[in-house]
Amino acid sequence: MGKELNMNQFGGSWTEEKMDIVIKYASAYLTIMNKQGWVKTIYFDGFAGSGFIESAGEPINIKGTALRILELSEPRPFDIYHFVELVEEHVEDLETNLKKHPFRENIFIVRRDCNEKMVDLAKYLKNNPNFRALVYIDPYGMSVNWSSVASLKNLGIDLWILVPTGIGVNRMLTRDGIIFEPWMQKLENFLGYTREEIMEHFYKFSTQQTLFGEDTIIQKEKNAVLLASELYTRKLNEVFSHVSKSFVLRNIQNAIMYHFIMASNNRNAVKIANDVIDSKYKL
Ligand SMILES: C[S@@+](CC[C@H](N)C(=O)[O-])C[C@H]1O[C@@H](n2cnc3c(N)ncnc32)[C@H](O)[C@@H]1O
Repeated sequence: MGKELNMNQFGGSWTEEKMDIVIKYASAYLTIMNKQGWVKTIYFDGFAGSGFIESAGEPINIKGTALRILELSEPRPFDIYHFVELVEEHVEDLETNLKKHPFRENIFIVRRDCNEKMVDLAKYLKNNPNFRALVYIDPYGMSVNWSSVASLKNLGIDLWILVPTGIGVNRMLTRDGIIFEPWMQKLENFLGYTREEIMEHFYKFSTQQTLFGEDTIIQKEKNAVLLASELYTRKLNEVFSHVSKSFVLRNIQNAIMYHFIMASNNRNAVKIANDVIDSKYKL
C-alpha cells in the first residue's frame, strides 16, 4: 500500500492526466466491445508498475493505472488482464495488491521485458482472431524498441504509447551532432530509422570555406522535440492505419517531456482517442 504524499511532492499532474486519458478511453472501449458479443478483450499493460504511483523510488498512495483499469466493470470488464513488469519488487507488490481482486482468475502478472511480451501478444492475437487488445505502454524512458511496435501490425490492437520525445530523444541529440555511439544505437532502435535518416531529420548541414578547404557545419534543428513526435507519428502510421493527435505532457517548468499517442486500425477508435485528448486540453 502506498504511503501519504501530496501531488506536488511527486510533481505529478501529468501522471494523473495520462492515467485519466487511458481510463476514459478504456471505459469507452468496453462500452463498444460490449455490443460485439463475439469479441474477447485483453488489457495489456507493458509497464505495469506496482499498483501505486512511485515518487523517488517509493510507492505513494495514488493508485496506478493497473488498479484503476480493474475498477472498470460496467458494462463489462476485460476478459483478460496481462500485466508486464520487469522489476521483481514491483511484481511482488502488484501480486499483493491484486491478490484478493474479484477478477484474479483473469489476471496474469509476468516478470519480463515488455519488448518480449509485445511480440508474444502479437503471436497470440494472430492465433486467436476473436481477441482484441487495448495496449498501454508507459515507460519512463526509451525502453521500447521500434521492432516491438512493428510486430503489432495488422492486428486488432488499440495502442496508447508514451513517447519520451523531450526526456529521451531530444537529450540524446547533442547540439553539435556528435552523438555518443551507444546513444546513436539507442536512437536507431527506438525510432526505427537509420543514423543517416536520424541525422537528416534533426540536423541542418551547411558548408563553410576555410583556409584548409570546405568544412561541414552541423546544426541541431530548434524544434527537435516536436520533430521527434512527428517522426514517431509517421512511423506509427506505417504499422497502424490511423494515429491520433498527441497529448503533450510537460514538467513543472513547462518543458515537454513526453508525447502521448494512440494508434489503431479502426478509424472510429482514433476519433474517440482524439475526443478524449481534446477534452483534457479543454480542462
Ligand atoms: C512509469 S512506470 C509505470 C507506471 C504504471 N503504468 C502506472 O500507471 O502505475 C514504469 C514501470 O516499468 C517498469 N519497467 C522498466 N523497464 C521495463 C521493461 N523493459 N519491461 C517491463 N517493465 C519495465 C519499471 O520498473 C516501472 O515499474
